[in-house]
Amino acid sequence: MTRLSVNLNKVALIRNSRGANQPDLLKVAKDCEAFGAEGITVHPRPDQRHIRYDDIPLLKEMVTTEFNIEGNPTKAFIDLVLKNKPHQVTLVPDKPGALTSDAGWDTVKEKEFLSDVLKTFNTAGIRTSLFVGTDLKMINGAKECGADRIELYTGPYAKNYTADRALAVADFKFAAEEAQKINIGLNAGHDLNLKNLTYFGESLTNLLEVSIGHALIIDSLYYGLQNTIQMYLKCLKTA
Ligand code: PXP
Repeated sequence: MTRLSVNLNKVALIRNSRGANQPDLLKVAKDCEAFGAEGITVHPRPDQRHIRYDDIPLLKEMVTTEFNIEGNPTKAFIDLVLKNKPHQVTLVPDKPGALTSDAGWDTVKEKEFLSDVLKTFNTAGIRTSLFVGTDLKMINGAKECGADRIELYTGPYAKNYTADRALAVADFKFAAEEAQKINIGLNAGHDLNLKNLTYFGESLTNLLEVSIGHALIIDSLYYGLQNTIQMYLKCLKTA
């Protein structure tokens, strides 16, 4: 069964736009869990434009499902993760000013660096995941670096879904099969939504977790947070 982890970046973005504590990120996290979310994901960026570093210890205290912190492993990020020990850390190669993550790691070129960082987290008892594209070399590279899981970057799937969904998912199916073969856990995320999620889940039988933020928060404007989370769960459970 694929777990749904709700990414709260956009909730923090709205909060930060007014300088006070509305919406209350902790309350939203708690409500997401009460409404059925099976994990909470945050992606603190160096400019702290949405999730702030000081949100992390409070969320860690509160989250009772799975807490996943994503980000580029700068020294500050590594320290933050080690101090707060989430269930999972997902390493993402995003540039400091990037609008959003739009590519996975080159796990071959970055092998030495990634192996070192992953070892630090693995030694601290934190499950590790590397954000990668569907290139099988990068998936094998992730395994060689010592990652417990990969998170497939699903932006290209979402972009091509409408034109030809079977073609859009083909490389992801190969990637999932490779992950299964080499025994590395499989997560996925980016641009997944109510239209494209069911088919993605149906197509990848070993998908452990998806993290979804942008579309889920937009859908909540129309359907409400509780209904929306239930709708996303339904996509995954019928898959
Ligand atoms: N996975 C990673 C690594 C991300 O950076 C993001 C966006 O913060 C997501 C998943 C979720 O993407 P979306 O907001 O499009 O659902």
